[in-house]
Amino acid sequence: MCGIIGYIGNRKAQDVVLKGLGRLEYRGYDSAGIAVVEGGKINLVKRQGKLRILINELETSPLGGSLGVGHTRWATHGVPSDTNAHPHLDCSGKIAVVHNGIVENYLALRQSLTKEGHKFLSETDTETIAHLIEKFYKGDLEEAVIKALKLIKGSYAIAVIHKDEPETLIGARCDSPLIIGVGSNENFLASDVPAVLDYTKNVIYLENHEVVKLTKDSVRVKDLSGRVTHKKISTVKWDVSQAEKAGYPHFMLKEIYEQGDVVKGILDERLVKDKVVFDELKIKESDLKKIKKIAIVACGTAYHAGLTGKYMLEEYARIPCWVDTSSEFRYRNPMVDSQTLAIIVSQSGETADSLAALREAKKRGAKTLGICNVVGSSIAREADGVIYTHAGPEIAVASTKAYTAQLAIFYLLTLYLARITKATPVSKLNVLTRELTKMPIVMNELITQYRSDYNILAAYAEEFKRYYFEKHNKSYFLYLGRNINYPNALEGALKLKEISYISAEGYPAGEMKHGPIALIDENPWVVCIAVKCKTYDKMLSNIQEIKARGGIVIGVVTEGDKEIQHYNINYLIEIPRCEELFSPLLVVIPLQLLAYYVAKEFGYDIDQPRNLAKSVTVE
Ligand code: F6R
Repeated sequence: MCGIIGYIGNRKAQDVVLKGLGRLEYRGYDSAGIAVVEGGKINLVKRQGKLRILINELETSPLGGSLGVGHTRWATHGVPSDTNAHPHLDCSGKIAVVHNGIVENYLALRQSLTKEGHKFLSETDTETIAHLIEKFYKGDLEEAVIKALKLIKGSYAIAVIHKDEPETLIGARCDSPLIIGVGSNENFLASDVPAVLDYTKNVIYLENHEVVKLTKDSVRVKDLSGRVTHKKISTVKWDVSQAEKAGYPHFMLKEIYEQGDVVKGILDERLVKDKVVFDELKIKESDLKKIKKIAIVACGTAYHAGLTGKYMLEEYARIPCWVDTSSEFRYRNPMVDSQTLAIIVSQSGETADSLAALREAKKRGAKTLGICNVVGSSIAREADGVIYTHAGPEIAVASTKAYTAQLAIFYLLTLYLARITKATPVSKLNVLTRELTKMPIVMNELITQYRSDYNILAAYAEEFKRYYFEKHNKSYFLYLGRNINYPNALEGALKLKEISYISAEGYPAGEMKHGPIALIDENPWVVCIAVKCKTYDKMLSNIQEIKARGGIVIGVVTEGDKEIQHYNINYLIEIPRCEELFSPLLVVIPLQLLAYYVAKEFGYDIDQPRNLAKSVTVE
């Protein structure tokens, strides 16, 4: 939700800010803006719409200066417009602020500032921050920012500049992410690491209620009481090329194709002589032995990974498990205690509801474990233990490789905990471990088929579009799965709706007779996950029932399945034969690609779907 960047150094601030915003655009893209200190004043350009619009404008009239801040917005307070776009200025136009977060008490602040004579131009909560800093400014920007922040309730990551302090860039955070990029004779502020990767791999993760004063050759962090804190500089492992499309038309396609390698990387790192190693897991084995139940908490795609995790953990580690969406968990009275392991799954590690759920679980005495992709993110830092997925930066808003990476971690965690609980014989666990290590090769073989000139999923997508218009836009999708592939039905539906805006619902196939079968006529396309598994026959019955009512079926089936040929399935998608436990890693790939190609057929912006932002750092 919104991306911010700040730069101080010797380069042209505009170049750094625009490049950084390009890498942060996944966080929000309804407007973008930049402010620089140039020629003793603040110069500001901000535009509604995608970053490209701002870039085009600055190409014809560029800004100078080597101190600047920038913002890419996902609107919360006030519609997307030039006026509501950031940066926001104070009345005098001397101070510029960019902000990610929500000032919850902005109305009260705005009213009292208005009474004091401040003139507001926008409808945003952020503008109150600029006016508050103006109110407190007596020649020291850092001091004024600290005074202003003490009055603010809510979440913020901010970057602030003042025209009279051309050697100073101020940043601060509370519940929204902010990192410092430490360069040589230059320093950076950004919402996320990829924004600074072109210039430095040295970063400092700012904590809540910390304020940083940057000059081009110094970094000083204080807390809100003014005490200086000493921060560790971390070196990021990500490479800048990972944050680029590398010739692919979309990040989403690149990330789908990376999945075999991502899972391989995870297994190579974690499996040492067939034993699972979790170096960063700071929870002792003796504590894990005391665990009586597991609560998995997450949002969206990560929630679906959690649902799959429950199937494996209960089956092989035999620990009772339940899965909650973070927004529900945090507001009910969850049965969490010191014998509970709360696993928070989050690609970004910054999702507001998941972070709040983690805190809630901690408060109730649970041991907490984060499964995160972004190193140093809030959930990773606040959980008792963390397992990183190390999937590299995921840029497309629709999550793909983070999902399979999370599944891979759940497989490993299951093997790890099953050894501790002794619920499954070691010989069986050894067999499963060996099967798991084969999966990256099988995933890559499947991906290679889709990379070929003729892509069956692209053909099905084209066919669907034709049908959709024939049916006067009445067609839509249902996804049915059972057992460990039921969460994949939810995930397939989520992928389709978020990037193609076509209605799609995921269901456990066994629930069809309890309602959804009423939907079946010639309109919906029903994706049935019917791979060889213990519920295969049940799924065949579901398919028959759908066909009997005129439904159109896309079957996701096991390669070489002869029986399925008798079912008159309209469109077949084959996946290689594998152990049922690991089939979710394969099944999801064509589902992701189907969503991708449908969105492509309809001509939508695949990497930046409407209304969404990748990192949901507000509630
Ligand atoms: C879907 C998607 C979202 C995220 C969800 C959680 O494609 O990307 O549903 O999965 O917002 O985000 P994280 O994993 O960052 O907590």
